[in-house]
Amino acid sequence: MKTKLVFQDPATLATPLLAVFAADFSANSESLPAVLLTTNDAISKAAAHALGSGEFKGASFETLLLHAPSGLKAERLLLIGVGKVGALSSHELRKAAGVAVRFAKPRNIRDLAIAFPDYHAVSDDALEGLPSLLTSRALIEGAFVADFDPDTYRSDRKDQSMSSVTVVSLPLAKSEAKSAEAELLQRGFDEGVILGTSQAFARSLVNEPGNVLTPTELGRRAKAELEPLGIATEVYSTEKLHELKMGAFWAVAQGSAQPPALIVMTYTPEKATSAEVLGLVGKGITFDTGGISIKPAEGMEKMKTDMSGAAAMIGAMRAIAQLKPSVKVISVVCSAENMPSGNAYRPGDVVTAMSGKTIEILNTDAEGRLVLADGLHYAKQLGATRLINAATLTGACVVALGLQNSGLFANNETTLEQFKAATAISGEAFWRLPCTDDYREQIKSHIADIMNTGGTRYGGAITAAMFLKEFVGDTPWIHLDIAGTAWQDDQKPWSAKGPTGIAVRSITEWVRTFAV
Ligand code: BES
Ligand code: ZN
Ligand code: ZN
Repeated sequence: MKTKLVFQDPATLATPLLAVFAADFSANSESLPAVLLTTNDAISKAAAHALGSGEFKGASFETLLLHAPSGLKAERLLLIGVGKVGALSSHELRKAAGVAVRFAKPRNIRDLAIAFPDYHAVSDDALEGLPSLLTSRALIEGAFVADFDPDTYRSDRKDQSMSSVTVVSLPLAKSEAKSAEAELLQRGFDEGVILGTSQAFARSLVNEPGNVLTPTELGRRAKAELEPLGIATEVYSTEKLHELKMGAFWAVAQGSAQPPALIVMTYTPEKATSAEVLGLVGKGITFDTGGISIKPAEGMEKMKTDMSGAAAMIGAMRAIAQLKPSVKVISVVCSAENMPSGNAYRPGDVVTAMSGKTIEILNTDAEGRLVLADGLHYAKQLGATRLINAATLTGACVVALGLQNSGLFANNETTLEQFKAATAISGEAFWRLPCTDDYREQIKSHIADIMNTGGTRYGGAITAAMFLKEFVGDTPWIHLDIAGTAWQDDQKPWSAKGPTGIAVRSITEWVRTFAV
């Protein structure tokens, strides 16, 4: 998908489809026509009749198509609702831009222009309403999110991807303030392209079936994508796991005919302005059968997505490589296939993690925390001063939070606040759950230091976090449980069903908070 930001009167832009946003302006019970988020006279005139009819309210995701709009060079004008004017945010606009793309795709419209929303149309205080950098970024991110379709293996696949999306902002007069504004728009736009394509890359990895995306293949793809971008990428396997004494990671890997992959990606800034080294650790189970504690057949196919945490980190590294923050970042992905076999680890086994801690295995389906235990420890050994990990870790997290929020755990309030600030920009939803030491009792073992489940179903997401916490020690750490959010079973008006690429944008933004 080609992308462009232009400064031009949108009425003069020749395009098959021009999308313009409209907000719901009705207050209380009073019903008022929707208000266009543009001060452009030609567009306002072209839409006046339709808006006056009252049949379009400007509700979120509502659309109205006008053919051959008079006074515009565009062949079609698409009105897109963004909901109540008071609730307008860059997050609403990200989705609305996605609605425009998802409107165009099935209609074989391959080129789309989006009129940059002008808040002056509804308020005098434009800056307070919509920061231009974030709006510009959100629009093009939303376009990439919407352009993604998961039908890669259909022989009758109609490739409906967009050829081009153009964001068109009004021409800015040549004053210093205006050119600063143009620069902000351009910067946000360029960042949005990087984040949008990186999220799409993560989604393409999650979408792959387990027979294609083995641990080895995941390593190969990470390297192929990241090395040209200047990220040093090493892919190790069995021998290295033994050398590093990664007994927890190996326990999971040993049951599969597919060798594991330990993927280490390093971003070194030209000039670091921070002494921090950020460690990004991902769970990369390319298929989770549950092992000897085998999962029920129903829904097991979904377990190809059990490498979504790894995909998030690889996607984030792709974005980091291009955004070039002035802080060092090391990412460790622990990838294996969790299989039952004659070589598989068993319930009751005791294994020794790289840190030296001994672990009693109660359930071989609690494998994610095992691979992460060694990944987190290794990231620290490589110099990480702050850790973040992402994993499709527990069904219990899905029970607790549903499909709307990912679980968020932290052992450090400062890091937590930084991450929250990052999510306010990314628009991704996380909800904090506790991992205080009063839960530690639940993972104590009689035969070893700890066990790999909490022994009961109560607080399953928390006991999993408590297990990880054993391996981070005093290092500030954030754990993201994305089991409920990495895959969506239903399509949304702004996104196809399937892999979401959750956490790529937030993790990247969090990394950027450590740079100047
Ligand atoms: N990969 C699963 C968690 C999962 C569940 C991811 C649903 C995506 C959707 C994880 O490895 C697992 O099986 N966890 C067990 C832990 C239990 C055995 C303590 C679970 O959540 O049931
Ligand atoms: Zn499992
Ligand atoms: Zn798993």
